[in-house]
Amino acid sequence: MDLGCGFGWFCRWAREQGAAQVLGLDVLERMLAQAKASTADAAIAYERVDLERLDLPEARFGLAYSSLVLHYIEVAAPLRAQIHRALVPGGRLVFSMEHPIYAAPTRSGWSLDTEGGSAGPSIATLSKDPAGTIGTTLNLLIRSGFTIRHVEEFCPTAAQIAADPAPAEERERPMFLLVAAQR
Ligand SMILES: C[S@@+](CC[C@H](N)C(=O)[O-])C[C@H]1O[C@@H](n2cnc3c(N)ncnc32)[C@H](O)[C@@H]1O
Repeated sequence: MDLGCGFGWFCRWAREQGAAQVLGLDVLERMLAQAKASTADAAIAYERVDLERLDLPEARFGLAYSSLVLHYIEVAAPLRAQIHRALVPGGRLVFSMEHPIYAAPTRSGWSLDTEGGSAGPSIATLSKDPAGTIGTTLNLLIRSGFTIRHVEEFCPTAAQIAADPAPAEERERPMFLLVAAQR
């Protein structure tokens, strides 16, 4: 299943990689309309669902995938529990999200009202980011019963920036957090 499937590109790619059936979930009708228009495959189903009110069948999916969606979800704990329950034992959750450090307030903003003072914020104060931290993200998975398998903090390589300078700021702080976990 693809949580927040958008235009459904991953659903189609998963089928190309051999998935028997794929379920794409998204809350926006216009995303789903485009996904359906781009898909000619009876083994891919799309459903309009708000991930904050998800009710999935138990032990049904081998892979739960989500690309750049989970940082929008406010009720994080129930969703992680739902996903864990919906995976078969050994099933994987693989997701990307906006990196908490990228979403955190700027250094100058933090230095105004944190113990970092004029020297700037300490690591501890940066971790007060209201959008969550790497720790809260990973601990939530662990508390939901997942085993963390891999964590990646995406940064473009120097060669990639030479080819396209647009993401250069991602060299200063990672923009994306990618996590693989297992039931
Ligand atoms: C940045 S797009 C990513 C789309 C797709 N996963 C991709 O990588 O191209 C975020 C998607 O999350 C969906 N989304 C945001 N909040 C959602 C919610 N509460 N329930 C379901 N989908 C949601 C949006 O409709 C949108 O399609």
